[in-house]
Amino acid sequence: MMATITDSTPAFELQPYKSLSNEELSSRIDKVRQQMGSELMILGHHYQQDEVIAHCDLRGDSFQLSRMAADNVDCKVIVFCGVHFMAETADILANRPERLETQDRVTVVLPDMAAGCSMADMAAIDQVENAWEELGELIDCEDITPVTYINSAASLKSFVGRHGGIVCTSSNAAAVLEWSFERTSRVLFFPDQHLGRNTSLAMGISNEQMPVWDPFALEMGGNSNEAIENSKVILWKGHCSVHQMFQAEHVETFRREHPGIQIMVHPECPQEVNDLADISGSTGKIIEVIEQAEAGSTWAIGTELHLVNRLKKEHPELEIHFLSPVVCMCATMYRVDLAHLCWTLENLAHGTPVNTISVDQETQRWSLVALQRMLDVK
Ligand code: 13P
Ligand code: SF4
Repeated sequence: MMATITDSTPAFELQPYKSLSNEELSSRIDKVRQQMGSELMILGHHYQQDEVIAHCDLRGDSFQLSRMAADNVDCKVIVFCGVHFMAETADILANRPERLETQDRVTVVLPDMAAGCSMADMAAIDQVENAWEELGELIDCEDITPVTYINSAASLKSFVGRHGGIVCTSSNAAAVLEWSFERTSRVLFFPDQHLGRNTSLAMGISNEQMPVWDPFALEMGGNSNEAIENSKVILWKGHCSVHQMFQAEHVETFRREHPGIQIMVHPECPQEVNDLADISGSTGKIIEVIEQAEAGSTWAIGTELHLVNRLKKEHPELEIHFLSPVVCMCATMYRVDLAHLCWTLENLAHGTPVNTISVDQETQRWSLVALQRMLDVK
């Protein structure tokens, strides 16, 4: 068994890579990929830019990428073209204890450490622990299942694992809530209020049963005791800054100007948008629907710009519009570019890995419990 690989002094500094052309970077990336062969697996989230996606062995939505990391059998390094919580999840799943009994540890690398997620940052572990304690003074916490969206730090996944809870993604949130309600009569859902609300509304839970917990409020997350006592799902006050920008009037304008258009959005969009859409689903589902769409049909899609632009290019037989008149792109996903990818790969090939992601053992143990519950549900 191999010990944890941590960062070493890089043989190559990042700066010079930034002035290389995309052609030069691409050919050097290809060279490392050939050299490392099946030892290296490059995973890419659908929101990555096309140049980066072109170098990914596999791409997927958050759930599919978790499965790929968990099911990986023979690679030694995963370079994760996505954001921080995704690389942490890959480390937790690829290096689970039973796998390490027979195989070497997998090194997980995030090409740019500044590729975070503003939504994940909206729920800090101390805020969630405070909320849990405060809730426990009013209601029985044994009767609450904490559910964290996968877009959260490993410390939060670990918190839910320790408290009988579970992780969800945008593709399995309904199944995860059903799992939760088989165990308890209430759920605390974080960090994305919109995914929690949209999913719960579709299951027949009303907004009156979904108070929003503001971690900055002085008491009870800004709610009356009665609102908490009558709750089914307590929603954390967090959101995705990209999907928050889609508005109901964007849907109305497209419907007016393009009769017959179909509107498809990601469930991280606010309720007013989600309610008006024809289809709501994860990035994986959005792609699947577009792949099966009837030639000549017209669509407006409300999710991150890079994915919508790629779908437009890949499907000239369809008329695809971006749902918002303003640019909604994930600035942190965009930090992963060819310069960072090439820099991390050449350091890896040289034996001086940089930007390695390694979750500590105790956090991994409980996060894995919460992630495994999710994988078992779907
Ligand atoms: P999915 O890939 O699960 O649809 O999530 C979208 C997203 O915002 C990832 O950060
Ligand atoms: Fe986070 Fe939103 Fe970017 Fe996804 S799109 S990584 S939820 S900020």
